[in-house]
Amino acid sequence: MSRPYKLTGLAGKIIAIDGPAGSGKSTTAKLLALRLGYIYLDTGAMYRSVTLYALRQGIPPDNGDALGDAARKLKITFRNEDDRNLVFLNGEDVSAAIRTPEVTAAVSQVSAHKEVREALVRQQKELGKDGNIVAEGRDTTSVVFPDADLKVYLEASIEERARRRLLDFARLNIPSSLDDQKEELARRDAYDSGREHSPLTRTGDAVVIDTSNLTIEEQVEKIIKLAKARFSGV
Ligand code: DC
Repeated sequence: MSRPYKLTGLAGKIIAIDGPAGSGKSTTAKLLALRLGYIYLDTGAMYRSVTLYALRQGIPPDNGDALGDAARKLKITFRNEDDRNLVFLNGEDVSAAIRTPEVTAAVSQVSAHKEVREALVRQQKELGKDGNIVAEGRDTTSVVFPDADLKVYLEASIEERARRRLLDFARLNIPSSLDDQKEELARRDAYDSGREHSPLTRTGDAVVIDTSNLTIEEQVEKIIKLAKARFSGV
């Protein structure tokens, strides 16, 4: 297992990573947090958990008030076990259930509601109040942690992102095709970037990294280098 890096001046920092689906945010952020000894905050998992709850309870994805109420009262927690980041919804392990195609298809609509975003952003800010956190999502650099110590925007070609998503699905034994994945990504990109409240944004102070031709290890190394330069002047 990788050991946390010894970086001077690292305590209490916030690293925020945004980018479109399939850009490599989750894997990169998870590994980065492990290396730095930081908490990993997967904000997408929180939107997915609210979506799963809504689907189970039959709450329509266009009912912002009811979804906002759910987001406020649900208890979403994370636990790291054997380097896996587990997600719990009111105490139930939903790590796999939030990755199904049904949840993936509905999550953009659910996460577009202001009421849902306000509830979850409040919880995310609370989780990050002491720093030592790597947060990733769509609005962590712009809305959740606008004063983050290091902001990174990851991007990759749609072909590469679709290929990665297909591999994720294969790991979960869910049949799919490259074309299906491309279509789904294009639909989600348009929805996540075009929505009224906190759309996916590349902030002016974020360092942009194109991950199309990088391995996860290279992505993580790049960000660690940036962190070193930013936090310890190395
Ligand atoms: O990163 P992901 O694919 O697990 O995210 C699922 C969805 O959640 C994504 O399509 C948009 C939404 N999301 C969001 O609106 N804001 C975030 N900070 C993270 C995710």
